[in-house]
Amino acid sequence: MENIILDCDPGHDDAIAMIMAIASSKINVLAVTTSAGNQPYRQTLRNAMSLLTLMKKRDIPVAYGNRKPLVRDLIPGITMHGITGLDGAELPNPDFSPRKENAVELMNSIISDHPRNITLVVTGPCTNVALLLSVHPEIKSLIKKIVILGGGMGVGNIGLTEEFNMAVDPEAAKIVMESGIPITLAPLNVGFEAQLLDSDIENISKIKNNDVAKAVTGLISTYRLSFDLISRDFEGVPLYDPCTIAWLIDPEKFSSRFCNVEIETKGELTTGETVIDYYNVSKRKPNAEVLFHINQKWFANLIIESIKKFQLQ
Ligand code: BDR
Ligand code: CA
Repeated sequence: MENIILDCDPGHDDAIAMIMAIASSKINVLAVTTSAGNQPYRQTLRNAMSLLTLMKKRDIPVAYGNRKPLVRDLIPGITMHGITGLDGAELPNPDFSPRKENAVELMNSIISDHPRNITLVVTGPCTNVALLLSVHPEIKSLIKKIVILGGGMGVGNIGLTEEFNMAVDPEAAKIVMESGIPITLAPLNVGFEAQLLDSDIENISKIKNNDVAKAVTGLISTYRLSFDLISRDFEGVPLYDPCTIAWLIDPEKFSSRFCNVEIETKGELTTGETVIDYYNVSKRKPNAEVLFHINQKWFANLIIESIKKFQLQ
């Protein structure tokens, strides 16, 4: 069983990642923390709590993250996720309260209680984890692993070679990538392959008696339209963030390579780029397992089966 803390900024694809994690018998979600990313921090917190209310998982502690990236102002991901961050579905109002302590303090106490037994899954900017490592440096050796959705090798989604999560808070990403903690990085290269095709979306829409299926159908149909706005000609709709959870469930369904990854923080054209040394030209020590390819059929099926687990009795 993989014990995780999900640090996210829901976000359509964050929502699917959360659903998969909660549905999986291989993953135990000990807490959800939220970051400023797709929306400002209050809204991502609210969205995470709405999703947990939808799944009837009010017992999972939720904590709010830092108000903004470490040194920059937040530019939220409105183009892709709309003005709520989860446009396209009518989600319930949260019917429980967040924790009083913030994301950093909640992560710190859970990791201290479960030394070397917690994996941090980061599907938003790395701000909260960077703060955790800076405020509580002694926690480093107690973190089992960090799985991050972010970056790209030669590809981007908010610039030619910049991916949203890394570009929103490159200084935080740098702290995390240089931490020495075992890291798995899912960049856009694998995210672009992690698609739901029209036939998959149709299968989800046909699942009856299931509020999660209804919400996901609305979310994905709307998210799909956002890709038309940015003129990306994908066959289906890519779901980046769920790559993290899918990898924890079955890493064999991915191809990967250990690489040195550095974060560009001062580039004129490339701030936030993950510089992935695929051929180890720099001779620097690899600091991340980078995922490159995924079995799309397996991935889509995993999402569908995860949703089915929320069937109403
Ligand atoms: C990342 O950016 C966000 O819009 C998504 O939720 C995902 O985490 C992809 O670049
Ligand atoms: Ca996200």
